[in-house]
Amino acid sequence: TASFPRFTREEVGRHHNEANRVWVTYGNEVFDVTDFLELHPGGKSKILLAAGGALEPFWALYAMHKQDHVQEILQEYKIGELSPEEPPLPSPDDPYANDPPRHPALRVNTLKPFNAEPPPELLAEYFLTPNELFFKRNHLPVPVVDPEAYRLCIQSPSGQALSFSLQDLKQNFPKHEVTATIQCAGNRRAEINAIQNTNRLGWSIGAISNACWGGARLRDVLMQAGYQPGYEGHVSFEGLDQDQSGTVYGASIPFQKAMSPDVDVLLAYEMNGEELPRDHGFPLRVIVPGVVGARSVKWLARITVGPEESKSHWQQKDYKGFSSSVTWETVDFSKAPAIQEMPIQSAITEPSSKTSVSPGELKVKGYAWSGGGQRVIRVDVSLDGGKNWKEATLTGEEQLPGQAWAWKLWQLDAFVPAGTKELNIVCKAVDTSYNVQPERVEPLWNILGVLNNAWHQVRVPVEK
Ligand code: HEM
Ligand code: MTE
Repeated sequence: TASFPRFTREEVGRHHNEANRVWVTYGNEVFDVTDFLELHPGGKSKILLAAGGALEPFWALYAMHKQDHVQEILQEYKIGELSPEEPPLPSPDDPYANDPPRHPALRVNTLKPFNAEPPPELLAEYFLTPNELFFKRNHLPVPVVDPEAYRLCIQSPSGQALSFSLQDLKQNFPKHEVTATIQCAGNRRAEINAIQNTNRLGWSIGAISNACWGGARLRDVLMQAGYQPGYEGHVSFEGLDQDQSGTVYGASIPFQKAMSPDVDVLLAYEMNGEELPRDHGFPLRVIVPGVVGARSVKWLARITVGPEESKSHWQQKDYKGFSSSVTWETVDFSKAPAIQEMPIQSAITEPSSKTSVSPGELKVKGYAWSGGGQRVIRVDVSLDGGKNWKEATLTGEEQLPGQAWAWKLWQLDAFVPAGTKELNIVCKAVDTSYNVQPERVEPLWNILGVLNNAWHQVRVPVEK
């Protein structure tokens, strides 16, 4: 075993900026991560918070670092160990201690922060996903909010800070209900990771769910705050969830979308007729129908309007699409627009590749959805890898043209002839603009592992 130089915490502490190089400790090991700063998926500024000191307090919050692939990266930068005289640090308090309880059926991707999806067999059982099964995508601990003390802060056109209580929003604005599907940009990343691992959450097909949201229209609230339609800028949202540096979750949408009478952007306080659950943004969240989930900011604290998009990491350095040729070394985040409306999508929820089926009648089920309010007009299903196709039957809620915010569930009553060895079930959906899903996932590979909408494929053995 190699023997490493020994350092004191004080020596490590002197390497707290790029000029003196950036050192950090983890356990009793010392790392020089200066050359990793620009490559860090979470951004350079975040690592600099830990510069000269221990990673543990920061990784208690960003606990997705406690995975093998992160440890492997870290080991590449090892330069030494702490002297045996250095006492170990007390373990940091768990920032997730106040997270709410969750349904045991959810498939957990990461516990801290909590990221989980419903199993496929349950996903397409309900047109409206039950709240406890609705997928959960948190970047930070769930904030504890006292609804009585809660205020939404909106910056008026003259720069004045206006404040709204929950009562104000419930009583002074008409309650509007919208059935809308929320999909994370990382839905189906597992298929992308199987080509080449992006080391990001390996969502299966369940980072999508559908609910009926109730709340005030953002448009009504913005008008009350003094805004008029016709401005070219952006509406930025900030959450109450934050890390040790006070960085909060944030995202933005174009002002025109926020003000459009046709888009139904909501400040929602209800989900499927119940009070908004803590995991989904209690007491108030934004719902931007037809748009990537990342813009539907939960635990909404603040709204501002300005000429630029949100400066947040999640607007600027994440949730963007790139060509397969772009690497972490060559990526220029300013070159790609933030994902807003999402492309046509569908997936098979039943049968699953973990089961086998018998010859004879077979029900094939799934979901289909398109962004921007485009209605799904057709889902084609093949049992033989795409040689022969049948049209599935669609079910769902009738929504106005251009306002089809909710997914369609679909079903095909198929027949499996005796002697078939294996089914290669494939589905592809088509929307009102005749946008259709691309066949292969390989050309869709990208460093962030977002926007996978390739034909979904499930291979299922057939019993004799
Ligand atoms: C993401 C490595 C330090 C904050 C990541 C990821 C890797 C990584 C591999 C992608 C992980 C994934 O999505 O599965 C490292 C290494 C560090 C380090 C080797 C050693 C110095 C830090 C520190 C902070 C931090 C000190 C916070 C203060 C973040 C954030 C993300 C991230 C915010 C993005 C999370 C998201 O996508 O939601 N890091 N990290 N990292 N890291 Fe680090
Ligand atoms: N809002 C805040 N404040 N913090 C977050 O971590 N995650 C976003 C968005 N809004 C997030 C947030 C992402 S990436 C998605 S996909 C959706 O919330 C997920 O919403 P859900 O957890 O209700 O399914």
